[in-house]
Amino acid sequence: MIRLEGVSKIYRPGREITVPALRGITLEVIKGEFVSIMGSSGSGKSTLMHIIGCLDRPTEGSYFLDDNEISEKGDNDLAEFRNKYIGFVFQSFNLLPRLNALENVELPMIYRGARVSERRKRAAYALEMVGLSDRLRHRPAELSGGQQQRVAIARALVGEPSLFLADEPTGNLDSKSSEEVMGIFRELNEQGITIIFVTHEEDIAAFTKRVIRLRDGLVIEDQKNGEPKADNLKSGGVRAR
Ligand SMILES: Nc1ncnc2c1ncn2[C@@H]1O[C@H](COP(=O)(O)OP(=O)(O)OP(=O)(O)O)[C@@H](O)[C@H]1O
Ligand SMILES: [Mg+2]
Repeated sequence: MIRLEGVSKIYRPGREITVPALRGITLEVIKGEFVSIMGSSGSGKSTLMHIIGCLDRPTEGSYFLDDNEISEKGDNDLAEFRNKYIGFVFQSFNLLPRLNALENVELPMIYRGARVSERRKRAAYALEMVGLSDRLRHRPAELSGGQQQRVAIARALVGEPSLFLADEPTGNLDSKSSEEVMGIFRELNEQGITIIFVTHEEDIAAFTKRVIRLRDGLVIEDQKNGEPKADNLKSGGVRAR
């Protein structure tokens, strides 16, 4: 599904300043994998996720998404790939405070010009999948942290992405909400969605079979055959499609 070959990213925040955030990453993720990315602060995790998520391009090297070379595409094409393939969840939820849960989830479809009835229906369904059918009219401030994160997940799911990316999805959550979110991820993965997420916590990474560790913009470890240790989870409330 995704392949990176010698991907580097150098930020140039000032005229004479260069920050090498990624320094030659070669990596392949197959369709249906469930992968966590770990590494200390500043090791390049978010930068890597932005490249995989088509939010940014590598400075050097190639990135292929389903055999399309993303590193050579223009901004419009990048946006199209994002729409077609990718659901992204950020650490800070990014929900609009004045909109209720249903309206927040509808947003990506408004940008795409879907009809009102269609987008209501799909947004309600996405919220049902994350167990929030009884919170459709609540605004973010009227929801718990875990519920807000689930609204953000529903919003990322509403476009039916084949690749689901999350940058520290449990970073702001207590352990119970974190487990709920991981339960949702696991059920999504069982439905065939490829999932890559960043975490600082070993016990959250333990939900996945594969753990990639970064240090100073390099992959220092890629554990592929680990059995997921946290295997006795309750259902996170996701319904099979
Ligand atoms: N837009 C930017 N301009 C300049 N430098 C940046 C930019 N974004 C990130 N960096 C630098 O690139 C390096 C990697 O940053 P990145 O955000 O990928 O780290 P991270 O592993 O996600 O860290 P954290 O765990 O703190 O989120 C850091 O040294 C950071 O300061
Ligand atoms: Mg980061």
